[in-house]
Amino acid sequence: MKINPAVLNRQDAHALFVGAILPRPIAFVSTIGKDGIYNIAPFSFFTGMSTKPAVVGFGVGCRRDGTKKDTLVNIEYTKDYVINLVHEGLAEAMNQAAGEYPSHVDEFKVAGLTPVKSDLVKSPRVAESPVNMECRLMQILEFGQSPNLNSFIVGEVVVVHVQEESWVDGVIKATQVKAIGRLGEDLYCRTKDIFEMKRPRV
Ligand SMILES: Cc1cc2nc3c(=O)[nH]c(=O)nc-3n(C[C@H](O)[C@H](O)[C@H](O)COP(=O)(O)O)c2cc1C
Repeated sequence: MKINPAVLNRQDAHALFVGAILPRPIAFVSTIGKDGIYNIAPFSFFTGMSTKPAVVGFGVGCRRDGTKKDTLVNIEYTKDYVINLVHEGLAEAMNQAAGEYPSHVDEFKVAGLTPVKSDLVKSPRVAESPVNMECRLMQILEFGQSPNLNSFIVGEVVVVHVQEESWVDGVIKATQVKAIGRLGEDLYCRTKDIFEMKRPRV
């Protein structure tokens, strides 16, 4: 089977991508709108981009009707956001927050999450998440055009909060964090089946 993604419609191209790039980490992105309403939504087109400076990026597509998602609108306005790690206990809340709610809806309330004031950014962080990264917007890369506009949001991580129980011997312990990952279709994975491999010393 050979597929040219350029000839696929948006849905089929998306299905192809999420089947081919996996498992993906989930950035649970919290923001605040210009009217002070809290917003949160999951994004799995998410990656680290640089360690020093600490830079992360995630991709936001358009809504089904071609309009911008609230996360993008809020980040364009405040120039900041928080990326919260999703563990097993947050899976249901994350899924609730993925609904396309109107911008006046407080999605922390919808998902039953507790907003905490951030140290350096206006956007709130999630109390229930084991790791929160406060980010300042650096740039937005755009691909395609509305209704197929994709915005890749690049930001500098200015503070990382780690819950005590996840911080063991000076590192974030995967066995404590219990992150979940995104696969294709409506599938997810846990990080229970972990193995170790030392790299060759050459
Ligand atoms: C696990 C998961 C991962 C998702 N990843 C993305 C993504 O990478 N990019 C995207 O645009 N939407 C993604 N979505 C869909 C958004 O979360 C959804 O469109 C949400 O309503 C956006 O909310 P907002 O309008 O409050 O920003 C994902 C949904 C789920 C459940």
